[in-house]
Amino acid sequence: MEKQKAKIGVIGTGPRGCGLIQTMMRVEEIEIKAVCDRDSGAFEVIFGAFDSAGLKRPEAYTDYNELLGRQDIEGVVIATHWITHIPLAIAAMKAGKYAGVEVGPAASIEECWQLVRTYEETGVPCMLLENCCYGKYEMMVLNMIKKGLFGEVVHCECGYGHDLREHLLEGYPPPSNRLYNNMHRNGDLYPTHGVGPIAKMLNINRGNRFVSLVSMASKAVGLRDWIKKNREPGHGFANYDFTSGDVVQTLIKCAHGETVLVTRNISLPRPYSRFNVVQGTNAIYMEDKKGIYIDGSIKGEVWEPIDDYYEEYGHPLWKEFESRGVKGGHGGMDHLVLEAFADSIINKTNTPIDVYDMAAWMAISVLSEQSVNMGSSPVAFPDFTNGRWINREDKIDSRYSLDEIICKE
Ligand SMILES: NC(=O)c1ccc[n+]([C@@H]2O[C@H](COP(=O)([O-])OP(=O)(O)OC[C@H]3O[C@@H](n4cnc5c(N)ncnc54)[C@H](O)[C@@H]3O)[C@@H](O)[C@H]2O)c1
Repeated sequence: MEKQKAKIGVIGTGPRGCGLIQTMMRVEEIEIKAVCDRDSGAFEVIFGAFDSAGLKRPEAYTDYNELLGRQDIEGVVIATHWITHIPLAIAAMKAGKYAGVEVGPAASIEECWQLVRTYEETGVPCMLLENCCYGKYEMMVLNMIKKGLFGEVVHCECGYGHDLREHLLEGYPPPSNRLYNNMHRNGDLYPTHGVGPIAKMLNINRGNRFVSLVSMASKAVGLRDWIKKNREPGHGFANYDFTSGDVVQTLIKCAHGETVLVTRNISLPRPYSRFNVVQGTNAIYMEDKKGIYIDGSIKGEVWEPIDDYYEEYGHPLWKEFESRGVKGGHGGMDHLVLEAFADSIINKTNTPIDVYDMAAWMAISVLSEQSVNMGSSPVAFPDFTNGRWINREDKIDSRYSLDEIICKE
């Protein structure tokens, strides 16, 4: 019997939108009905992918209102640039479509509130498509925490370490949207790859919450230095003073006393890392060591390979994914996050990353800018749940849940 499919429209068919569409073409539970980009030239790659797969091309629009007006679309994947994410998610919810939104920073705290209020008024779910929540090791550590291996979690570290110097200048001139943000904003402009998985490990918005942060930014010289070394002397940015610090560090305090250090490091040479560290009363995990240390280990105070624990602690969703063949971008996590979105649409449930998660995680960018601009002063987090974080009862019963480990055949 053919599987039930979520009927999806995609807004934004730039490089990421195209990548997501190509991943979704291999998700059995998804049917792509329509795509939209305000630049019609952006459809070429997508049409080519459908043609070579022998599939009917989706309808294409340059005005997202036309896509949202279609009755047959149940969910919308939004892969446009940053400051359009929340307004488009609001438009999708108002049109009765599940909103699945690519990652990025919020533009203001006010728009985070608008997002939450739209969900509360319409009852239509909205999911941040934070693929890193479905990373193999993020899910494994989540499983280890739920099984008690770490004891009580005390401190976490995370972030985004990715040398984007060349990428930031792609297509210049004009500056890309990402570059515009780096020209004008100083703070952690990409917090959710790191914070998302850690927030789930710390039960944020479900019994715990982020209460305050302080943020500090280094000077911003990495991009200018790279331009001087790699571009012609008259390059438009050869002497530009970028606003966004090369290394931005943010320390978040949680209601139950945990601390989370979030680092953004994108304009200096470095290998990729999400800097994950989880430390509890019984164990510590460190991504960059690919290692774990468990209190009292007979091997002494040394890092043991985390992979040695996969058989016992690998997340059941990942084990099942491996058994059917890992596919999709970013080591498979793109595939899983899109399956999770489709699963919610098909079963008409809330999404495993919900609107309160999305608002709290995206707000970090704006709060970090406020702190940086006020000499690293502490800034309070808004409570987007309006007090309901203390005892929320609406967990989803899905194997894609990030709040519980639910293993279903
Ligand atoms: N999760 C991940 O691992 C990951 C990886 C890469 C990018 N991203 C995110 O994906 C998003 C898109 O990235 P990108 O590199 O493709 O960006 P991009 O700016 O190159 O492409 C965005 C596309 O959206 C279109 N667009 C913008 N506003 C629109 C509107 N109102 N209506 C219709 N179309 C509109 C643009 O014409 C463009 O084609 C970004 O938010 C980025 O942060 C996430």
